[in-house]
Amino acid sequence: MTSAENFKVYTTGKLPFTINDLKRREEPLQVLMCSPEYFDIIDVKNVHMEGMAQQLNKELALKQWSDLKFVYAQLLDQGLIEGLKIILGVKGCEDMVFCANQTFPWMGPNQKREVWMSRMRHPSRQREVPFFENYFLEMGYQPRHFAKTPLFEGMGDTIPHPGKLLLYGGYGHRSNKTAYEELSEQLSVPVIALELINENFYHLDTCFVPLSETQVMLCKEAFTEEGLALIHQCFEEVLEIPMEEAIATFCLNAHVVNNQKTNKKAAILQLGSVAAKAALNKCGYTIFEVETSEYMKSGGSVFCMKMMFF
Ligand code: ARG
Repeated sequence: MTSAENFKVYTTGKLPFTINDLKRREEPLQVLMCSPEYFDIIDVKNVHMEGMAQQLNKELALKQWSDLKFVYAQLLDQGLIEGLKIILGVKGCEDMVFCANQTFPWMGPNQKREVWMSRMRHPSRQREVPFFENYFLEMGYQPRHFAKTPLFEGMGDTIPHPGKLLLYGGYGHRSNKTAYEELSEQLSVPVIALELINENFYHLDTCFVPLSETQVMLCKEAFTEEGLALIHQCFEEVLEIPMEEAIATFCLNAHVVNNQKTNKKAAILQLGSVAAKAALNKCGYTIFEVETSEYMKSGGSVFCMKMMFF
């Protein structure tokens, strides 16, 4: 698919392409985590945070972060990922540990790496973004800024189709639809824009997990009828996870790693899910279960606690 008219945003109706028509896309294989020493729950930014300000066990939070880091170190040893980097948390940036949100890294034509800087909804989170801009500058990335979009929360809302040049963009809570108009134009990539209609699922990465070129697991209550109809055109198999499980265990914030070079697959997710675990098993994933209870009190789990980059 090369014609320019296909590099646009789709919100409803019949798609003019099939997944097979799309170009291949190289997956990022490096993991970035942000150290958690200043993680805290101060104000309520999402429904999961209600009443949680006094409930955080900080010592336990540090341990859970280290345990997650250890899982990524194992993935590195086993050839599933190619790098594991840490950016230092900053005092006064209590949510910086959720480093899926401040940026959207991208590999353009000719291996040109660029990174789109988020426009965070909450002022305390806006402070996090320059630290990531500097980090990626040092890594040789070209920072990119939105021209007409007030809200965009990085990979929290922007998730690629496995191995294909196609993006899914969540909007309604933390990102604006215009972000995807800008991204599709600037990156020459079609974007399926998905309105998120349930406050429990305020980022796309809380309700939508592509597993392979043909399979996705999701919570249908998070989406509109139009959105679900688009998703069904893009995946042969849509594995529905019950809403109660998705809310209670953040299982749709799992991080699935598909290494195209070694053909190895692993999934990391919060302990306690049943349906999501069964779906991951069925799709051939090696499963790593972790405890992220302290981060769930802030509305995040595994997927939010890392950034994938090139
Ligand atoms: N407390 C953070 C917020 O509300 C949690 C972010 C979770 N990240 C995610 N990718 N879902 O912004």
